[in-house]
Amino acid sequence: MRKILVTGGAGFIGSHLVRLFVNSYPQDHIYNLDKLTYAGNLENVKDIEGRENYHFIKGDITDTAFLDEIFSTYQFDSVIHLAAESHVDRSISEPLAFVTTNVLGTVSLMNAAKKSWETQLEGKLFYHVSTDEVFGSLGDEGFFLETTPYDPQSPYSASKASSDHFVRAYANTYKLPVIVSNCSNNYGPNQFPEKLLPLCINNIKENKALPIYGKGENIRDWLYVVDHARAIDCIFHNGIHGETYNIGGFNEWTNIDVVKLLCKIMDKRLGRETGTSEKLITYVTDRAGHDLRYAIDANKIKGQLGWEPSLQFEEGMELTVDWYLKNRDWLDNVTSGEYKNYYDNQYSQ
Ligand code: NAD
Ligand code: DAU
Repeated sequence: MRKILVTGGAGFIGSHLVRLFVNSYPQDHIYNLDKLTYAGNLENVKDIEGRENYHFIKGDITDTAFLDEIFSTYQFDSVIHLAAESHVDRSISEPLAFVTTNVLGTVSLMNAAKKSWETQLEGKLFYHVSTDEVFGSLGDEGFFLETTPYDPQSPYSASKASSDHFVRAYANTYKLPVIVSNCSNNYGPNQFPEKLLPLCINNIKENKALPIYGKGENIRDWLYVVDHARAIDCIFHNGIHGETYNIGGFNEWTNIDVVKLLCKIMDKRLGRETGTSEKLITYVTDRAGHDLRYAIDANKIKGQLGWEPSLQFEEGMELTVDWYLKNRDWLDNVTSGEYKNYYDNQYSQ
């Protein structure tokens, strides 16, 4: 029986991970620690809320006294750390929030784990979930390997890179047992509609413009969120402590092609004539310092741990669209109130 602390489990990826662990490991106890920021939503984990091996703790990973208290009360033996500020555009307008949560929060969490595990490091693990954005931007060729030097370009990726460095420094200095994984762009149910795909799904539904930054030629490597959760599961249980694993979809698309594919699926699902949604595409001012291309070489996790994506992209996109259309209340709830202010500030030009 393990006691696993998952941070950020009310967010997009965290909620899928918590569900997978609660269902797959009934003998383990999963503690979901989340501050419930604008991005955290307990509706994301509503289906597992009454389960015996699931526990929710509301709190902030920068609150050191609170962290010491919960480590002492629950005696966690592992941490899977996902809580973060995760949106690049917000990091451009509010970088300090990213330093606070992503850097100070990660170090505070490791300090609490280190203190709690002081007398016995055997059987413990601090698993840090990170991003491919730490590697910077690729040109037309090449892939990010686990050994690619860090070259973060946005305040978000700089904060994640900094936290990754701290995790490895704690492993080296204090022998904290750690694993880091760096993943490419996730998509799927429950993603907050500040991110490209859910934002466009919502706008197509509302017949609003689809804002494409620059020329839409930037490339991302898309992975279905449940496949990311499966990869974390696989690494958590079978990965080697001290190692880093890159996770990706072997699935590169330009933004404009991704949005055109989404438009086709939405037209079909909404019973609109083919081409209707594409007319909403609008090119807008580019994101400052916009990284051109991300592409992960995920052959290490594939070769060593036997993980690979389970879904084709079109299949995953259809599942995603169907989820958002079926869960209109979820979308309406998160796009009311504060979201409107965010949207107006971000997209008024
Ligand atoms: P998200 O923004 O959907 O969720 C983040 C969660 O963290 C929210 O539930 C929020 O309430 C919580 N949180 C934020 N600050 C907190 C604090 N101070 N204390 C406690 N909880 C706090 O993010 P996501 O897209 O699910 O990403 C999860 C992790 O995965 C992040 O670390 C991110 O960097 C990483 N990642 C994301 C992607 C992606 O495509 N979304 C890809 C690779 C890696
Ligand atoms: O690569 C992993 C990263 O993927 C994660 O670490 C981040 O947490 C996650 O947010 C994501 O970052 P991106 O910046 O790539 O995702 P986003 O959905 O914001 O944008 C995807 C691409 O679409 C990017 O090139 C910017 C572009 N874009 C985005 C928005 C919101 C637009 O053209 N228009 C938009 O309105």
